Formats: sequence, structure tokens, C-alpha cells
Amino acid sequence: MSNLYGDFNQKIDYVFKIVLIGDSAVGKSQLLSRFSRNEFSLDSKSTIGVEFQSKTIVVDHKTVKAQIWDTAGQERYRAVTSAYYRGAVGAMLVYDMTKRQSFDHIARWLEELRGHADKNIVIMLVGNKSDLETLRVVPTEDAKEFAEREGLFFMETSALEARNVDTAFLTILTEIYRIISKKALVANDEPESGGNATLLKGTKIVVPGQEPDTKPAKFSCCASS
Ligand code: GTP
Ligand code: MG
Repeated sequence: MSNLYGDFNQKIDYVFKIVLIGDSAVGKSQLLSRFSRNEFSLDSKSTIGVEFQSKTIVVDHKTVKAQIWDTAGQERYRAVTSAYYRGAVGAMLVYDMTKRQSFDHIARWLEELRGHADKNIVIMLVGNKSDLETLRVVPTEDAKEFAEREGLFFMETSALEARNVDTAFLTILTEIYRIISKKALVANDEPESGGNATLLKGTKIVVPGQEPDTKPAKFSCCASS
């Protein structure tokens, strides 16, 4: 799939904001650095506040810029919650398949997500660290069942071995694109309906310091590529 990636000098057709959530140390930041830069670090530090990375891909001949936001799993390091979720059209709910507690907490993360995000947000449950199969405590079946019950996509990944990481992000981005392009079609048929407003709203990204007519979000830090 590497031919889908790269730097494009052409215009961006869509910007999709995706948020990463889940307990501390499940591997959110490493999934992000694997996807955006193809890098991995075994001694990665806990995230403080909010960071994001972008990556541009092509879906159906359209240029889609994924802007992926990453925050701290640890409560005390988390930034303003509603600002984090605002405008997100996709979410990855990450647990560590070697830590039962991180899976048990998924229901709470999902509740927070549903309380703050757009109701049409595309959500994927991600069981990370699949390279540690011998230490697995969360059976694939349990996670699959949970995902089916809650209407989520599901995938097991390894940021360390780059297993399923691209596939997970591409699945979510393609699904968002599918929903948005379908809504745009409906909207074209019925120009008065405004039926695409909800999801298209998500293509507006609040970049702290770069939003001319709104107050900058109160994030402690932001890194962009
Ligand atoms: P917070 O920022 O505190 O919320 O944590 P996080 O979810 O961002 O975790 P992070 O990406 O910093 O990873 C935590 C630890 O798990 C680090 O030591 C990583 O190297 C390790 N790790 C992340 N992904 C994997 C993986 O797929 N396999 C293995 N074996 N270790 C991983
Ligand atoms: Mg982190």
C-alpha cells in the first residue's frame, strides 16, 4: 500500500480529524508514529496534553489528509476534553491485549466519546501489542463481540511490528470517506436538505493559533507535521 502515501503537491480534497483514546501505555502514540512516520520507540514517554500528526493518502482518487490527534490516557495529563473531540469524524479506541484493565475501561472511553463527539463518528476498537501473543489476556472473541454489540470496527495491531497499523487507519479513513461522499451525493440531489451538514462539519479542523475567527483551543502543546 506504500504507493498510496507520499507528499502531494495537489490540493487536499478532505481533511479528516481522527482522535486516539484509551488508557495510558496501551500504545496510542506509537500507533500514531508508526502510521505517520513509520517509526517506533520502545521507551516512549507518556503523552502530556495533546499532540497531532498528519498524513495524506489517496482514497478513490481523492486526496485525504488525516489529522490524527493523540492525548494522554492519564487523567492528570489530559487536555480540555470537549475541544479534543470537537470536529472528529473518526476515533480509535485502543486497549493493550496484555492488560485486561485497559480492555475493561473501553466501555468508559466509549461513553466519554459518545458524550462529546458527533453521533456519526466512525469508531474502531483496536487491540494493540499483538506481537506479545504469549502474554495475551484479552481473547480476540471477547473484543470482537464487544465491537459487534456496540457497532464498532475491530482490529488487532502491533505498532512494534507494524502489523495492521496502516490497515486500521486506512479502514477508518475509507469508511469516513464512504459516508461523506454518499452524504454529499444526497445533498446534491436535495440542495435544500442540508443533509450533509453534520459530517462535513467534521472536515473543519481547529488548529490552535490558525483559526482566524475563533478563540484558539486551550491546548498545552501541539506538534504538527
Ligand atoms: P499515554 O501517552 O500515557 O496515554 O500512553 P500511550 O497509549 O500513548 O502509550 P505509548 O505509545 O507511549 O506506548 C507505551 C509503551 O508500550 C511504550 O513502551 C511502547 O514502546 C510500548 N508499545 C506500544 N506499542 C507496542 C506494541 O505494539 N508492542 C509492544 N510490544 N509494545 C508496544
Ligand atoms: Mg501517548
